[in-house]
Amino acid sequence: MSDNHYLTTHLYKFFKKDGILIVMLKIKTHGPVAQLASAPVWHTGGQGFKSPQVHILMQFQTLTFTEYPSITLPQSVILEYPAETSLPAKDHHFLLYIPWQKKFLQLVPKKFQTFFSKVLPHLSARTTDVHTANCCQYIQPLCYAVEAAHPGRTIDQTVVTLALILHDCGWSRLSEKEVAASLGVSGLKLNATALGPKEKHAVEGVALATELLESYGKSFSLSEAQKDLILLAIRHHDQPEKVAKEGTAVPLEVQVLVDLDHLWSFTQLNFWQDVYRKGINNPQTYLENLQTDLDSYFVTPQGRALATRLWKHRQEEVAQFPTQP
Ligand SMILES: [Fe+2]
Repeated sequence: MSDNHYLTTHLYKFFKKDGILIVMLKIKTHGPVAQLASAPVWHTGGQGFKSPQVHILMQFQTLTFTEYPSITLPQSVILEYPAETSLPAKDHHFLLYIPWQKKFLQLVPKKFQTFFSKVLPHLSARTTDVHTANCCQYIQPLCYAVEAAHPGRTIDQTVVTLALILHDCGWSRLSEKEVAASLGVSGLKLNATALGPKEKHAVEGVALATELLESYGKSFSLSEAQKDLILLAIRHHDQPEKVAKEGTAVPLEVQVLVDLDHLWSFTQLNFWQDVYRKGINNPQTYLENLQTDLDSYFVTPQGRALATRLWKHRQEEVAQFPTQP
């Protein structure tokens, strides 16, 4: 529950069911609520991820724009259109973005915040800044969960964290048209149009990450092996099926980065962003699309389990979506 200072809560009701105390809270959100519902704790006794059994009474808002259709989404999610764009009007929705706020930096592990701030100017395309910071909250739980499934092996969290911070910097070297093309999918599976830019951002990302590590990463005293591993993870972070197919030959750090990146699709912020950014405009339809693609989108069973848990929170939100805003 790392972000509960963005919430005010009121006890709504509580009751006991099957021996479990169910507490229902009325929550007014002043920021991302996803952390409250999804704050994952890994139980090593084979129980998988557990998070507090919280039933959220969602509060929705409708954003209105002078030139675009209105958007209804949770109060805690803000979407904006860019002030200027070279794309035709029919494609403007691909550029909807969540504005960066300083509070997101607190989600980045303290030791990496200065480095993140240096990389930040290269993370503005495609809401990559908000995405990257928010995915940092899953680094520890996922690394511990994957380690628990691989006795005797340790995941280098410095490598994973730096790879996560840098993995999408390549989008800054692509055009608006390429960014739009990468989002022209109804779920998570890439079509031929999206595949080109997705591949290109990973290749560009390796080149730019090399420069950024060289300029700002000295304080981490990385070995050559660590640097190579960071770049390998960036190169393959958007290839879940390839990585899964190669199995144990792929370092755990690479597998974890793939899953950390992809958990973003199941968070509250990106779920609602993509409902509108991808032009689906129907949260129930998008929820079903995510469920269909979930299995093949993750490499580790632990990443898949965490995504399933997040998906259930989105299901609960969508069930409360106002039919007539
Ligand atoms: Fe990403």
